[in-house]
Amino acid sequence: MNATAYNAVDLAESGAEAAMAVNCRAVGDLAEAAASVGCAVVHFSTDFVFDGLQGRPYVESDRAHPLNRYGESKLAGEAALLASRADALVFRTSWVYSLRRKSFVSAILAAARREGPLQVVADQTGSPTFARDLAAAVAIVLARVSEPHALRSLRGVYHLAGSGQCSRFDLAKAAIAMDPHKHEHRFSELVPTQTVLRDGVAARPTFSPLDCTKAMQVLGVSLPDWHDGLKRALGDTATHYHPATPPRAGRG
Ligand SMILES: NC(=O)c1ccc[n+]([C@@H]2O[C@H](COP(=O)([O-])OP(=O)(O)OC[C@H]3O[C@@H](n4cnc5c(N)ncnc54)[C@H](OP(=O)(O)O)[C@@H]3O)[C@@H](O)[C@H]2O)c1
Repeated sequence: MNATAYNAVDLAESGAEAAMAVNCRAVGDLAEAAASVGCAVVHFSTDFVFDGLQGRPYVESDRAHPLNRYGESKLAGEAALLASRADALVFRTSWVYSLRRKSFVSAILAAARREGPLQVVADQTGSPTFARDLAAAVAIVLARVSEPHALRSLRGVYHLAGSGQCSRFDLAKAAIAMDPHKHEHRFSELVPTQTVLRDGVAARPTFSPLDCTKAMQVLGVSLPDWHDGLKRALGDTATHYHPATPPRAGRG
């Protein structure tokens, strides 16, 4: 199971070679190594393989057209894996968060504890995914297969993300409303903004919800509605989250 990635989306614009090494070449090597010992590979990819211009949620067969280097390297990684002899499942997911790692949701909760207006982009729409829900769904898929070669007939790309869609602004608003430690909030107001493209900042798809019908029909799994996932992520004391202890920083 490969959840590693060069996922510093903006840095990848100037570090395309490193992104390609981790997100593509390493994936190809992993696939060949797995195939040589009869091992299946489960890999994660992203809604950033799409340009967001289609105007409806993306299905697996829709044309991929990444807007940035990160998306290009992830798309190339999918291709490397599927060109290999490995029995491979590729799960494209989106807007993954958990309070255990740096994520959009944990960043918003931290920002809500600072003075002043809190600006959040309102022109990016996607499908937020609670990391634990994603992990649970993949575990269910794997628990159903008796041995690695049983994955052969399931080989391919699947979209697997939280059900429904929202803007970054909607997600931030919901996270702030559901925060169990609201008394710690210091921000003055939540302000919707537009994505501003600056030098060194990668373009992102503005509308990239994932249609997860195939995963439901073929693999028998679907993820809960994003509100439900967010509620559990914020309410679950098992995460031991407290803003005073910032989540561990990730790479992206
Ligand atoms: N987060 C999202 O919104 C999102 C959306 C769509 C798809 N995905 C995909 O989901 C997967 C997991 O991403 P994530 O968001 O969970 O990221 P993450 O928390 O940053 O995890 C990525 C992991 O990759 C490891 N890694 C990076 N470069 C490495 C290298 N050169 N050698 C060894 N390990 C390396 C990191 O190690 P360290 O712990 O040492 O940093 C980290 O554990 C990725 O395939 C990503 O493309 C994520």
